[in-house]
Amino acid sequence: MLPPSLALLLAYLPALALSLKLSPGCGTTPKLITTASTTTPLALTVNGKSRNFFVRLPENYNSTHPYRFIFTLHALGGTATGVITGTGGYVPYYGLPPLINDTVGAIFVAPNGLNNGWGNQGGEDVTFLKQVITTVEADLCVDQNLRFSTGFSYGAAMSYSLACSLGKEIRAVAVLSGNPQISGCEGGTEAVAYYGQHGTSDNVLPISGGRQMRDRFLKNNGCATTTTEAAEPAKGGGGRAKTVYTGCTAGKPVVWVTFDGPHTPTPKGQGESETWSPKETWEFFSQFK
Ligand SMILES: *[C@@H]1O[C@H](CO)[C@@H](O)[C@H](O)[C@H]1NC(C)=O
Ligand SMILES: *[C@@H]1O[C@H](CO)[C@@H](O)[C@H](O)[C@H]1NC(C)=O
Repeated sequence: MLPPSLALLLAYLPALALSLKLSPGCGTTPKLITTASTTTPLALTVNGKSRNFFVRLPENYNSTHPYRFIFTLHALGGTATGVITGTGGYVPYYGLPPLINDTVGAIFVAPNGLNNGWGNQGGEDVTFLKQVITTVEADLCVDQNLRFSTGFSYGAAMSYSLACSLGKEIRAVAVLSGNPQISGCEGGTEAVAYYGQHGTSDNVLPISGGRQMRDRFLKNNGCATTTTEAAEPAKGGGGRAKTVYTGCTAGKPVVWVTFDGPHTPTPKGQGESETWSPKETWEFFSQFK
């Protein structure tokens, strides 16, 4: 017989182990990543090509605290620096840092695509981003159950592609006006929590592609086929319509937002000065602990 206190401890251990998966960098002093890594990129060679990425350390980085890992991927013609500084049409890191108000916090990772895009030829961008994850997590303390990816346009397509290829290695994605073809979908059979948003007047990447991506994860996530998509917002009203799908596998929700607007990472309601997009993304990501 175990003493009651030890029995209690053992009963709790499996639950703790499942909810927290420490990266190799936990408890070690970072050797690679510093506060300068937001402005000085880190380099990797992948398939003979030189690649780079930036990492934003949380304030007062604590090497024994497991953080979220969030990829913020740029659009076609964009750069990681644009995402970081909030220039070229973005708000910094898709507007997420000021919203993150819980004790988990986040490490933001902004990589550069080849030719300012995410063509993912032969899966090379998935390979690159996997190596970025390994490199960051060898140096920093990450909860490996809390990896996320978001991006706009090509960055959205690549976030979708990561969900397809990495499956349960990725906890959730937020796909902002993406497309299922341009970065591809290798695998694509595992459940990944999925948030998608798309403008009803998008004439760069039509909303039909947004629905196709969503539908893949509705199926993978086992969501009920009975939920009716909310009616699209009226043209000219600046509104949005949100559908939260029911019946999805526990921990694998799907949320879909359509908005009255074009191809943009920063949709706004009528008369509003700030975009609602970061709030929706954070509401989705913050449910995962
Ligand atoms: C660092 O994080 C650990 C684990 O979350 C926590 O117990 C500790 O108090 C933190 N240290 C500081 C200085 O905040
Ligand atoms: C974080 O902010 C949201 C509103 O943006 C609020 O609902 C939530 O309670 C806050 N959480 C914490 C831990 O402060």
